[in-house]
Amino acid sequence: MYTFTDIHYKHQRKCIQENSGKFHADLEQGFRSLSLSVMPSIFKRYRKIKTLGSGSFGTVYLVENAAHTLFALKKISSPKEEKISSSPLSEEISSPKDNAYDAFVAIEREIKLLLRVQKCRHVVNLLKYWVDHNRAFLLMEYCERTLRQVMRSNADIFTSPSKIKCIIQQILTGLKFCHNRFILHRDLKPENILVHNGLVKLADFGGGRFEHADVELTLPVTTLWYRAPEVLLQDTRYTQAIDMWSVGCIAVELLRKGDNLMDGDDELNQIQKIWKFCGAPTEDVWPEALELPNYKCCMPRNEYLEGRGLRLAFEKCDVPYGAVAFVCRLLRLAPSKRIDCKGALGHKYMTRDPLPCHLLR
Ligand SMILES: Nc1ncnc2c1ncn2[C@@H]1O[C@H](COP(=O)(O)OP(=O)(O)OP(=O)(O)O)[C@@H](O)[C@H]1O
Ligand SMILES: [Mg+2]
Repeated sequence: MYTFTDIHYKHQRKCIQENSGKFHADLEQGFRSLSLSVMPSIFKRYRKIKTLGSGSFGTVYLVENAAHTLFALKKISSPKEEKISSSPLSEEISSPKDNAYDAFVAIEREIKLLLRVQKCRHVVNLLKYWVDHNRAFLLMEYCERTLRQVMRSNADIFTSPSKIKCIIQQILTGLKFCHNRFILHRDLKPENILVHNGLVKLADFGGGRFEHADVELTLPVTTLWYRAPEVLLQDTRYTQAIDMWSVGCIAVELLRKGDNLMDGDDELNQIQKIWKFCGAPTEDVWPEALELPNYKCCMPRNEYLEGRGLRLAFEKCDVPYGAVAFVCRLLRLAPSKRIDCKGALGHKYMTRDPLPCHLLR
């Protein structure tokens, strides 16, 4: 069986060969700071209180130290089971070796990317990390809720346009910090956004990566409902605009009281919903789409005008001035025409009354 250590050394050699980076030295130092005998004592130092959530590769626990300070401890294990993907558009079978490699890459990325954006108060704080043969632990600040939990249990935020704006503003501020450092998050969704004492923080950078010009990126990325149309059409040269799309979907959900308009069951159904609400790609609107690998199998069934479906969906919603125009700018089909974080933060929806207010007010 492959262990994280095997994969790490293999990866390390490859990276040294490619002469790529100080980070690997930093990470290696982090790895060395771990002696295997230290690992079993992590749960002695940090008492497990409960499980906060679990995801593709690991589990996040609420823990406390001897001084009763609360933390979130993410434990990632090397997967042993064979998994079969059931994506209708991309059928792949991954082996345990691939899964272990994927888990390792996800941890490496999460640590590496988080370390780069720690100065932003809208990104979760990584306090310590340890990695051994087949496990990794990330000790993070504990945040009370995810944005999903806030939406489910604090229905009052939906009645406060200022609080909705405040959440969107904080997400955009965190994301701008990442994008300015060429970091794509690639999995923005309410479950990966944390809220604590009125502060909104981006979390789960396991799917993120650095943006390099002219490098083909992997597919698929982003949870289906928040996935941009260019990714669904298999554009491997996607940009920061994929995160802007996800913010657009989150904004729709917040402005429509938790109702996500584009909640497809599979990739084909998702893209059809996108055409219906955001418009069908045409030579005028998004010419590059017509050349993308999945365009032919996902061709729109009707002639939908760009943004018309979204405007109709908001007709009966009581939303502030500029809100619909704002989501239409985030959900533009052509990635090159989609608004960026700076543009979104300066959009008239953001800058006019009612202005964002503190979440705890
Ligand atoms: N710092 C934190 N404070 C509180 N809860 C957290 C924290 N980090 C993560 N969680 C909880 O654990 C869940 C899973 O965390 P995370 O998204 O980082 O893991 P993951 O394995 O990458 O999950 P997935 O594959 O589902 O995206 C989150 O949705 C959230 O409920
Ligand atoms: Mg997650």
